[in-house]
Amino acid sequence: MQVLELKRLKDKKLKLIIIESEFTIDWALELPKEEGILGNLFFVSRAYMEFIKDLVNKYHPNFVVEDKGMRSIEEPSTDDEFGAIFLNADIPYEFVDIPDYALNVISAPLMDKKGFIKKITEEIESYKKMGRVHYNDPNFQQLVIWRQLLKDDFNAQEDEIRYKIREAWMMMNIVELAKKQEKNQITAFFITDKRHFDGIRFLAKELDIGIEIINLKKIAKYPDEETSINDLLNRSILEIMPIKVIKKDKEDSILYFFDTDEYCSPFDTNMGYDAGFNTVIPYSKMTADRVSRLVQDAMFSRKAGASSVYFVGGSDVIESEKIAEEVLKTIIPPFESPVIIDPRGSHTTASAVVAKTLEVARKHEFSDLSGKKIICLGGTGPVGQISALIASKLNAKVVITSRREQFVKELAKNLTKKAGRGATKIIGESANSDEQYLNIVRDADIIWAVGKAGVQIISNKLMSQLPQNKIVVDINLVPPYGIEGMKPDFYNTEFYPGIYAIGALDIGRLKYKIEREIFKKALKAKGKKVFDYNIAFEIANKIVFGEEINILV
Ligand SMILES: NC(=O)c1ccc[n+]([C@@H]2O[C@H](COP(=O)([O-])OP(=O)(O)OC[C@H]3O[C@@H](n4cnc5c(N)ncnc54)[C@H](OP(=O)(O)O)[C@@H]3O)[C@@H](O)[C@H]2O)c1
Repeated sequence: MQVLELKRLKDKKLKLIIIESEFTIDWALELPKEEGILGNLFFVSRAYMEFIKDLVNKYHPNFVVEDKGMRSIEEPSTDDEFGAIFLNADIPYEFVDIPDYALNVISAPLMDKKGFIKKITEEIESYKKMGRVHYNDPNFQQLVIWRQLLKDDFNAQEDEIRYKIREAWMMMNIVELAKKQEKNQITAFFITDKRHFDGIRFLAKELDIGIEIINLKKIAKYPDEETSINDLLNRSILEIMPIKVIKKDKEDSILYFFDTDEYCSPFDTNMGYDAGFNTVIPYSKMTADRVSRLVQDAMFSRKAGASSVYFVGGSDVIESEKIAEEVLKTIIPPFESPVIIDPRGSHTTASAVVAKTLEVARKHEFSDLSGKKIICLGGTGPVGQISALIASKLNAKVVITSRREQFVKELAKNLTKKAGRGATKIIGESANSDEQYLNIVRDADIIWAVGKAGVQIISNKLMSQLPQNKIVVDINLVPPYGIEGMKPDFYNTEFYPGIYAIGALDIGRLKYKIEREIFKKALKAKGKKVFDYNIAFEIANKIVFGEEINILV
């Protein structure tokens, strides 16, 4: 006697096509009372048969099973036109369900309960017959309450058998049939009532069985009033609508978005969805001391190798870096996942600034940034810092300006340390007047205006005093722009003699492409891969030049 035991297939791969039956397939512990000639009488329509034939031609199943439900016949036969579709094509076709012996064992205690419900019902009926029904009679009330309680309990237990237990047996039957197949790649049809779809989908996932679900959309074509019964006999009853196939044998991809700000950035959230993540879960006001518990929770609740990606953003760059460090520390094998770091868009924007500068520089015959003097005006913010970092790794002579002398000197020292061996020293200079700025930018090859949005740093007057041969980038998109006279749509535009400009829109377009590509790459990546400015810059160069410039030291 077979016992219920669900095991994964060892050397075989099963793809189960779950097809909605034409009619609901009811099931109950007791057969329903006969309803004359129509009781339990169903005929499969021509349209459904044609629909199934099309599926057979499309998928060529190795075997077909159908939910037996309350049918009294045990085996399908070729006398039945529907079964003949498969059997005549030499496709094994069987009914699946819980076997009678197992059902008897499981249902015995339940049937006893049913007996008790019947006893109470009879007693209530006798109250009626004897004209003793008084709704405020405590005994009558007690009987009605008991009956309801037992009936609810009975229904719940019957549902457990109807769905969970029968679905497990049906699935075991399917796995057993798959085992018997000679081939290793098997396709099978399971025709069943759609109320079983969720249960079967769950079991298939546990058993590593790939599934496709085919729902049916039936439209009955109502005859008009003049139609006679004779006309009806010659008409097709149903129209089977185009089928909808839902494929789901992969786990959802989730982007966990940790943001230091009060509200998570809608820009980055949208980018996550647009790149193809099924779900983006935003966590705002994130701090480094809270993040590891969340990562553990996220990590241990998913299968190793499931598509989870962590994204760290926000205005607080220092806290973002600490958060990223914590995330990287927390993710352990075998649950490693990619981590994207881009606080306030700084890594992607800075990469765009450097790559676009290189693009225009090549048009003016300097091939790289090595030895070039670059001034990061107002470069103490996130974008300025990362731009300076990349430029120093490309051996440019980088100067960051700020209104805060002490702060910028300390920052320059830390950034130089961070840039590592082989990078050039970053200098911090204080400036807050035209005269001071002029002294700093006069002999620069490149000027990056990366100060706060809506703040003009360099005036027209100053610009007109500058010698030629310069590239100027202004990433501020909020007027007044960082450099007077600048336009966001400038690209290699000579706006002073010998001075070529790139505006914020051109930078923004590339930044968008870089971020999108990072999300896409992270979505496909496996293991603990870090996507920061190093990768962002690599991608930027790939987009701009079709080549890779590696700045990893
Ligand atoms: N185009 C794009 O796609 C794109 C993408 C992202 C960001 N952005 C833009 O990039 C720029 C930089 O962003 P961010 O977040 O790194 O900048 P931020 O942190 O807002 O500001 C950078 C620096 O600007 C300086 N600053 C503020 N007020 C100033 C003033 N009145 N005069 C001179 N300097 C002043 C400050 O330096 P000190 O206090 O040290 O002087 C500050 O640290 C912004 O304009 C932003 O809108 C553009």
